[in-house]
Amino acid sequence: MANQRFNKKYFDRYYGKRPVRSLNEVAHLAAAVHELASWWNSPIRSVLEVGAGPGDWSQWYRAMHPKIRVMSVDVSEHACATYGHKQRDIATWSPPHPFDLVICMDVLQYLDDAQAARALRNLAKATRTYLYFDALTEFDAKHTVDRDATDLDAHLRSGNWYRQHLSRSFLQAGAGLWIRKSSSVVLHELEHSR
Ligand SMILES: C[S@@+](CC[C@H](N)C(=O)[O-])C[C@H]1O[C@@H](n2cnc3c(N)ncnc32)[C@H](O)[C@@H]1O
Repeated sequence: MANQRFNKKYFDRYYGKRPVRSLNEVAHLAAAVHELASWWNSPIRSVLEVGAGPGDWSQWYRAMHPKIRVMSVDVSEHACATYGHKQRDIATWSPPHPFDLVICMDVLQYLDDAQAARALRNLAKATRTYLYFDALTEFDAKHTVDRDATDLDAHLRSGNWYRQHLSRSFLQAGAGLWIRKSSSVVLHELEHSR
């Protein structure tokens, strides 16, 4: 597994004194996604966090919803030892059973095109209903992120590259949330984009 890059130095640099995002910020996002699932009448009972790093989503679920089954995985030996994840490479692994909610945030920019395409297929296999997905794009690197706080040494692709792959299995609900087409959730026409 190619995980040497994601060592203590990497985590100190991006998740130390000046983290790219705080646990509190992620808590708002996780709560919003969790409530939306209830609104769509398909509540979340199992959660998989992929490329979890510090594991903010899984920490939030374990603290706020202790009855929900939570698994967190990362390719990095350091992240697994420090934050308690199972060591898995999403380019080569998918779980034997799908999870209601899968989170993959800021991971796929570290994979080349072929690996990222395989990872997106594995994410689709892993997801029963909801996927929360984000990855640094060419546009983000130029226009949206704090360039000092963000690791820009990555495979920067267009947003459309990700949309095309994800659209094979998901509807884009927006704000990073994707709904598996094969799930029981029925979205009104204006709740998603084509
Ligand atoms: C920028 S961090 C994001 C961490 C967390 N998802 C977040 O949003 O704060 C990227 C993480 O992806 C993990 N990662 C990179 N390639 C991976 C792969 N092929 N499979 C699983 N995890 C991977 C790294 O070890 C690192 O923890």
